[in-house]
Amino acid sequence: MAGNARPPIDDGAVLITGASAGIGRELAVQLAPRARMLVLLARRAGRLDELRASLLARQPRLQVLTLSVDLSDENDVERALAEAGEQAGAVDVLVNNAGVGDQALADQADWTRVRNMLRTNVLAVAQLTTALVPAMVKRGRGGVLNMGSGAGLTVMPAAAAYSASKHFMHGFSEALRADLTGTGVVVTQVCPGPVDSEFDQIAGSAGGMTGGPPQLLRISAAQCAREALAGFDRGVPLVFPGRAYRIAMRALPLLPRAVAPPGRPVRHPHPPRRRRRSPSGPAGRAGRSMRISRLILSGAAIGTIIGTGRADLNATHVFNPAWPPHARFHNATGWGTVTGSQLLALWLLWRPGQQASDQDTAVTTAALLSAAAWVPFFPALAISGADVEDEPGHLPRVAGVPVNLVPAALIPAGCALGCLLHRHGR
Ligand SMILES: NC(=O)c1ccc[n+]([C@@H]2O[C@H](COP(=O)([O-])OP(=O)(O)OC[C@H]3O[C@@H](n4cnc5c(N)ncnc54)[C@H](OP(=O)(O)O)[C@@H]3O)[C@@H](O)[C@H]2O)c1
Repeated sequence: MAGNARPPIDDGAVLITGASAGIGRELAVQLAPRARMLVLLARRAGRLDELRASLLARQPRLQVLTLSVDLSDENDVERALAEAGEQAGAVDVLVNNAGVGDQALADQADWTRVRNMLRTNVLAVAQLTTALVPAMVKRGRGGVLNMGSGAGLTVMPAAAAYSASKHFMHGFSEALRADLTGTGVVVTQVCPGPVDSEFDQIAGSAGGMTGGPPQLLRISAAQCAREALAGFDRGVPLVFPGRAYRIAMRALPLLPRAVAPPGRPVRHPHPPRRRRRSPSGPAGRAGRSMRISRLILSGAAIGTIIGTGRADLNATHVFNPAWPPHARFHNATGWGTVTGSQLLALWLLWRPGQQASDQDTAVTTAALLSAAAWVPFFPALAISGADVEDEPGHLPRVAGVPVNLVPAALIPAGCALGCLLHRHGR
């Protein structure tokens, strides 16, 4: 068969690992109306039985086989494969979803946890795929849906082995897809960002993996499953669920390493925000510079709201009936956009519960938002005869310089200083 077709989900037998919770459970729920047979794997038999009962209540014609298996145990996986073969017959689609994380600095990781994670995230994936794919190729139809992670394309600090296990998933999925092209077996990899599930809690990182993507990109497990299946149905190689996260992940490879280094150090957490007095010594100085950087950047954001407001809202613009309505509307929307972006900057800077890497992103974004708001002023103010110069009641001048050129120079400089101090304090 030429090219990759649609995966044979409809009326097919689908085996899902990690179906007792999170994304795997949602995949089972969303596949139930389409599949003939679901084979659900996880360790918690009670959870699987509960899911089976709720699926059958809604889809009486569906067949559901639940198998309690520890994927970190090669023999147990072998046993589950044999039972699935006996009771469910041929598997048309394999969903390698089960996975665990482990939040720990590399030198503080616990070997038993690391070993079990690698066995689950790496070896079980290879074992199940190697066992089930040959029959799919023989039949000329099949599908493999692999749950990778953004950590498999970048690096997640304080989760070295987890990142590496997802890098395996990425390489494995890409090579598998290449090998199976033309066989009728579809291979799709899903690389989610933060998803609501039990994952973070089990990884020891309730509130989100340190060094992972910003939490504002978090999506529900249902959305993740829905977008994963939509991509799988289209036979795409790689799915990034969530629009904002997808844009970020597509842009990431285009950025130079200096701007977006793979894995920022997270060893030195930011000082507790409530502490009033800094201790003396380097740690105290670092804490002080972090606080000063935030204050400078907040000042830049507030100064931008006031400064651009002076230009856009003063008597020469929005409130001046001598101006045509479209020009006043243009000014009002311009200032509204700038104000919105600066309020976002302030929220990023001061929102509670940030992790070290989130703060890096927040500070850089806040600085860029404030600095960027002033860029349009330069050509307008610097070029003689440009629009602003010709406006009725144009901007006042101080010593011959249009007054807005002062904040237009000072605020971006302040932003750069704020970023430097932040880096110094990390
Ligand atoms: N949530 C996120 O933010 C996120 C982001 C990127 C990628 N991912 C990936 O998405 C996949 C699903 O994670 P999730 O978010 O849905 O996490 P979850 O809610 O913790 O679910 C993990 C599932 O894997 C199963 N599992 C874990 N270890 C197992 C083992 N040794 N044997 C059998 N089953 C095992 C669990 O079942 P039992 O405990 O009952 O065995 C559970 O059903 C994982 O591969 C994860 O790496 C998640």
